[in-house]
Amino acid sequence: MLYPRILLAAILLITIIFTVLNLPSNNEETLIKQDEKPSNTEETIWSAPDISLIAQEENASLIEYGRELIKNTSLYLGPNGSIKKISNGMNCQNCHLDAGTKAWGNNYAAVYATYPKFRERSGAIESIPKRVNDCFERSLNGNALDTSSKEMIAIVSYIKWLSKGIAKNEVPKGSGILEVPFLDRAASAENGAVIYKAKCESCHQKNGEGLLNTDKKSYAFPPLWGKHSYNTGAGLYRLSRFAGYVKANMPLGASYNAPLLSDDEAWDLAAFVNSQERPNKNISKDWPNITGKPIDHPFGPFADGFSEQQHKYGPYKPIKEKRLALKKL
Ligand code: HEC
Ligand code: HEC
Repeated sequence: MLYPRILLAAILLITIIFTVLNLPSNNEETLIKQDEKPSNTEETIWSAPDISLIAQEENASLIEYGRELIKNTSLYLGPNGSIKKISNGMNCQNCHLDAGTKAWGNNYAAVYATYPKFRERSGAIESIPKRVNDCFERSLNGNALDTSSKEMIAIVSYIKWLSKGIAKNEVPKGSGILEVPFLDRAASAENGAVIYKAKCESCHQKNGEGLLNTDKKSYAFPPLWGKHSYNTGAGLYRLSRFAGYVKANMPLGASYNAPLLSDDEAWDLAAFVNSQERPNKNISKDWPNITGKPIDHPFGPFADGFSEQQHKYGPYKPIKEKRLALKKL
């Protein structure tokens, strides 16, 4: 009776080993494989047009000004800004890396092709200036820019130029923020604190408030929390946005195909940073249809019955399943 059982166990073990060997071991590997596919397929990762070509455009100086405003926002529109004092000292580029051109660096590739569009957060059709002002009011914890100002027109002109060659409604691969797979557990702020100390604190500082340049007008290392950081209505306050941003971009030097954090570390850092003090935003008018709230939106009421705690930190899979089930009803 013993022999057949041992034989069975051995076959099972061999099958498991073969299956595991054949599976791609992690996301990075899959991404790199896709990256290596020949160009001119829909799998090609987006890259921005050559910046030197801006000079050929009729409105070149406007586009250049828009790019400059994205890179050095605080010099023009920060607390000591030369044009207007309407934002917290951060630059758009702090979160939209390389002036919004980096693959999975929260770039602007899809913006011109997909706006105006309906957004659940406002429950309305939003234009590009409206979306830009969302970031002024939330990510830069400031005030909206006049939509007819030269600055707004310049920013929109630059965003439009960046999306040259992208067809209407096309979302190029590599645009926006990387989606990090959900964990089976809740993200842990305690783990995140340990990782923060080891991998982030040297630049973003112990108090998370970043480090100003000697001119005191802009940051060498931008704040992650505290009164000069993004507010509770900002995109990065959602753990999935933060985890996706840092997974493909932080610590500085990381990229989607050479990440320096595991998925677990990215989620735990998101939990830690987003449980620190930061400016509060009144978002009572957001999400007029509560069933449209993203799974990781941390403020109730919710139509799915899960707590604010679970919506903020996870585990998210049960919420996702429940929502699918509710949809089928
Ligand atoms: C603190 C980080 C941060 C800063 C600073 C910031 N943004 Fe954003 N921005 C985000 C996040 C997060 C999103 C949402 C991305 C997502 O959900 O995929 C976003 C989205 C956008 C979008 C829409 C992108 C899309 O594809 O739908 C635009 C346009 C935009 N930002 C413009 C700006 C401009 C212009 C500035 C400077 C005035 C700025 N942002 C500053 C974090 C930031
Ligand atoms: C070597 C310095 C350095 C290290 C280490 C580093 N960062 Fe950054 N981080 C930066 C810089 C510089 C920027 C702004 C990039 C730009 O403007 O081009 C930034 C931007 C950010 C942003 C978006 C802007 C903001 O302030 O909200 C987040 C979020 C962030 N880092 C999180 C992290 C996390 C989490 C870690 C640890 C895993 C980390 N960073 C490690 C230098 C660093």
